[in-house]
Amino acid sequence: MFVRRAYLPTRPLTPADQARWPYTIPAVARLADQGVDFPTPVTLLAGDNGTGKSTLVEAIAVAAGFNPEGGGTSFRFTTRATESPLGEHLVLQRAPGRKPRTGFFLRAESYYNVATEIERLDADPDSPPLLGAYGGVSPHERSHGESFLDLVNHRFGPQGLYLLDEPEAALSVHGCLALLLRIADLVDQGSQFIIATHSPILLSSPGATILQIDAAGTIAPVDYDQAEPVALTRAFLADPGRFLHHLLADR
Ligand SMILES: Nc1ncnc2c1ncn2[C@@H]1O[C@H](COP(=O)(O)OP(=O)(O)O)[C@@H](O)[C@H]1O
Ligand SMILES: [Mg+2]
Repeated sequence: MFVRRAYLPTRPLTPADQARWPYTIPAVARLADQGVDFPTPVTLLAGDNGTGKSTLVEAIAVAAGFNPEGGGTSFRFTTRATESPLGEHLVLQRAPGRKPRTGFFLRAESYYNVATEIERLDADPDSPPLLGAYGGVSPHERSHGESFLDLVNHRFGPQGLYLLDEPEAALSVHGCLALLLRIADLVDQGSQFIIATHSPILLSSPGATILQIDAAGTIAPVDYDQAEPVALTRAFLADPGRFLHHLLADR
């Protein structure tokens, strides 16, 4: 465990700041009152689209020293700065005397740019070869899911801090299960994960804390069965025809 808690001190923020995005997102506003705890090596953030999961994961990544668009801590490229200023203000409470040996911030939506940066760094005669650490093939020459599994299997290592935003976007169901196993191995080797996800498979990570963000911005731990992606997917799969029938009839 490296990061135990994240919170937002309001003092450097002016009232004008607080009236602006991202502080207008209810979950971000609540960080100032309550903060958020990461009690276990795997924390999973669930919640509907727009509740602030990506904003939160990105801000934790920036506060931990990662590039806002993704990559390892040495990545410093920018294609289009869309990050919120939250990362500059968010405070991470770290476990005393423990520093990650490695880490990665992955956003499914901008991994293409990370892949381009990996190629660029690898081609730079002044920097050491890099592709080997990513499985030996440029991520642009693999499918999105293959390149992502290369990344977690080869580049991720023990005692790392990993921040992942919807990793399932790249992955098949098999791929999600492979990721789940890899996460369990890396946790056994002292790593920590904070993951925003809608995947009922990833949400089943053994020993994980699921924090569900609701529309009012409450960030609360829930059991696996109560997590919305799990409950809704289960209700759907129990009888897809019936579920769709009701959904279509309610239009
Ligand atoms: N660059 C931005 N500028 C203004 N608003 C944004 C920006 N990025 C996201 N938002 C808004 O912030 C809210 C939270 O977004 P996000 O953290 O991406 O949600 P989630 O990842 O939970 O789906 C949304 O209402 C979204 O429209
Ligand atoms: Mg998101």
